[in-house]
Amino acid sequence: MTVMEETRWENFARIYNDVTRYPTIGDVAAALDISPRTVRNHAVMVRRLHESGEAVPALISRKAKAATVAPIGEKFRTIETLPEPYEEPVEDLLKRVIDGNERFATHHHQKSCIDLNVQFPGPYGVVGLPDHHLNNIGTLVRRAFDDAYVINQHPHLFAVGIGDWLDNFIVGFLERERRKDIMSHSDAWRLAEHYISVLAPKMIAAISGNHMDWTTSAGGVDVLKKMFDDYGLGPIYDTDQVRVRMNSPNGESFTHIARHKYRGNSRFNSVHAITVWILENWQGEDVVWGGHIHVAGHTSIEKQWMGRSRIVHGIQLGAYKTIDGYAKREAFRANQPFLTPMTIHVPETGETMFFEDMYRGIQVLDMLRKQMGYA
Ligand SMILES: [Fe+2]
Repeated sequence: MTVMEETRWENFARIYNDVTRYPTIGDVAAALDISPRTVRNHAVMVRRLHESGEAVPALISRKAKAATVAPIGEKFRTIETLPEPYEEPVEDLLKRVIDGNERFATHHHQKSCIDLNVQFPGPYGVVGLPDHHLNNIGTLVRRAFDDAYVINQHPHLFAVGIGDWLDNFIVGFLERERRKDIMSHSDAWRLAEHYISVLAPKMIAAISGNHMDWTTSAGGVDVLKKMFDDYGLGPIYDTDQVRVRMNSPNGESFTHIARHKYRGNSRFNSVHAITVWILENWQGEDVVWGGHIHVAGHTSIEKQWMGRSRIVHGIQLGAYKTIDGYAKREAFRANQPFLTPMTIHVPETGETMFFEDMYRGIQVLDMLRKQMGYA
């Protein structure tokens, strides 16, 4: 054995035998910059050299130390290197959960009513946009975009988007529907992006709808939320429900609630589920918007609120998808007496008026504002 080899094995033995500084084989390996397997191989070699009388140090047994690290089952095996747990300590976990839950509760309470300030006096209109399904071959895309451009251009109009902006047929049983598509996914989302960019300055509430939620549930990311966030509209976007209170400069307010779905639809009365909601869950809203069922209807219900009579408008929106293969196959009743209804709010009188058609509503809105000296 050469002097160099002797020095090398002495150095190896010094580190190998130092269980205080290098309690595991992994520590020895790290100190020598070799792998744990090489450490073990070297140890076997050094022991043999020592036993055969060569001038190399004796190596201690590391088995006893290893057994104290992993005592369970030590009769059968030992685990020499215990990895650090990757989980945070449970105290840290608890703090993170509590902080997160409290932030969520604050967000929830704040979002139960979003205040929007209308920046001009006098009457204004709010148009309800039905289920869009912009990439469906049976959708009135021209009409949908015309409506959006009109809303964008009119200085006293706002809009509520009730959801299902795209078909987004990505779930298994609807995948077959997608095979009929003439539009790529990418083009569909480009259409939605453009549509939202046109409406963004006028949106007061936007719901995702179950078709958009499939992206969120399948991929864990709410892409539509990101789009609205980019326009600063995160607060008025939600997967389930948005309630907004529109405050006019004279101090009068009108409150809208938008949901894609309500419980208890009726085959005979398109607005049945919303009526039930108004009777059971009403919290002072002037307008209650719904979507999802692709039929349209309207109801007016008188409520007493703080000593004052208020007329609540329940508006079930239909769909821009007017040629609906699924509804045809399943024999759903087609019933869309109107497509884009509108409410007019008159802050000076506290009145809310309902119009089945936004274009008729715009005529009345313009006339009213002129008569009241606002035009
Ligand atoms: Fe829909």
